[in-house]
Amino acid sequence: MSTSIEAPATLAETIKSVIAWRRHLHANPELSFNEVETSRFVEETLQAIGGLEIRKPTATSVVARLVTGRPGPVLAMRADMDALPITEATGLPFGSTNAGVMHACGHDGHTAMLLGAARELVARRDRLHGEIRFLFQHAEETFPGGAEEMISRGVMDGVTRVIGAHLWAELPVGQVGVPSGAVTAAPDTFWITIRGKGGHAAIPQQTVDPIAIGAQVVTNLQHLVARGVDPLDSAVVSVTQFHAGTAHNVIPETAELNGTVRTLDAAVRTGIAARMERVIRGVTEAHGATYEFTYERGYRPVVNDPAVTAEMVQVVADVCGAAAVAAMRPVMVGEDFSAFQQKAPGTFFFVGAARPVDGEVHPHHHPKFDVDERALETGVRIFVEAATRYCAAR
Ligand code: NI
Repeated sequence: MSTSIEAPATLAETIKSVIAWRRHLHANPELSFNEVETSRFVEETLQAIGGLEIRKPTATSVVARLVTGRPGPVLAMRADMDALPITEATGLPFGSTNAGVMHACGHDGHTAMLLGAARELVARRDRLHGEIRFLFQHAEETFPGGAEEMISRGVMDGVTRVIGAHLWAELPVGQVGVPSGAVTAAPDTFWITIRGKGGHAAIPQQTVDPIAIGAQVVTNLQHLVARGVDPLDSAVVSVTQFHAGTAHNVIPETAELNGTVRTLDAAVRTGIAARMERVIRGVTEAHGATYEFTYERGYRPVVNDPAVTAEMVQVVADVCGAAAVAAMRPVMVGEDFSAFQQKAPGTFFFVGAARPVDGEVHPHHHPKFDVDERALETGVRIFVEAATRYCAAR
């Protein structure tokens, strides 16, 4: 590793603390909007670091400002803090002590890395200009998300650039993905109720069967992407729930369908939502049923700023070596980091953290998901170097 970061003795100590913080957070996960102990821990750790102006813009989020007193840019760096309703099965000695709740996406690591970066940057404050603002965000996993709420409390006021990271099990440790342009998808949700006419399963001519019609709806929705989206654009339409019926000899009145639409491009997104209702209306009308359709728009796609991204690629190459920069395609997950990007140009990057549990690397949101803790140092070093360069004298 070659880097302009100095004071390696401090860094080594910080990394030890970061791992300890991550393990503490991992053992004490909390769900979205309920990060009470998590935000308390973050606040207390920041107070112990010192030299920061700390406030809680919402009940369970924390913002720390490193104000240098010298004119310059304002860099925001964000970590999300919430866990998921999953029962942990990793067998880790610092596994979840909160039954049914697990840090299964790596947000424990994000929080620990940003605390580490804060500690390092406070130690370097004499060389910094402007302000560095550390955003510890609640509720990334649950729409409408914590980012918008924090922004409404002014946390992005005056910010000139924003960066954020995700530990990423799809990449090996030592690799860092810094894609330009669209990075994550808009995760929209839909609900469909098909209303038919119930009756005896052996006398179907007197009924309007919502199951048979629902099956046609599911099949026809597949055409939205296959025949309606440019093959060079990306979209997913998945029906993930289909509930109907109570007995083998009864045709039910209704069928309930639910699912998700993922897109990277605003025009593709709007087009699918409109054509979706046309398909549902057409199929249900053709068979004499009616429908109710609800389409909820989720987070915006994360779209990385080309100029900030180019600088971040250079930071990663200098901190981790040019070979560490991984070619990475967009992922169709949702991420409300996009909300911060509405307020300032920014880049979201992915720190390779794959770690097998029971001989296999498990995906994010899996009960056996884990991160390789060596990735925490990579994340801290990238944050510190990015901030040191951006807030250098100019
Ligand atoms: Ni996540």
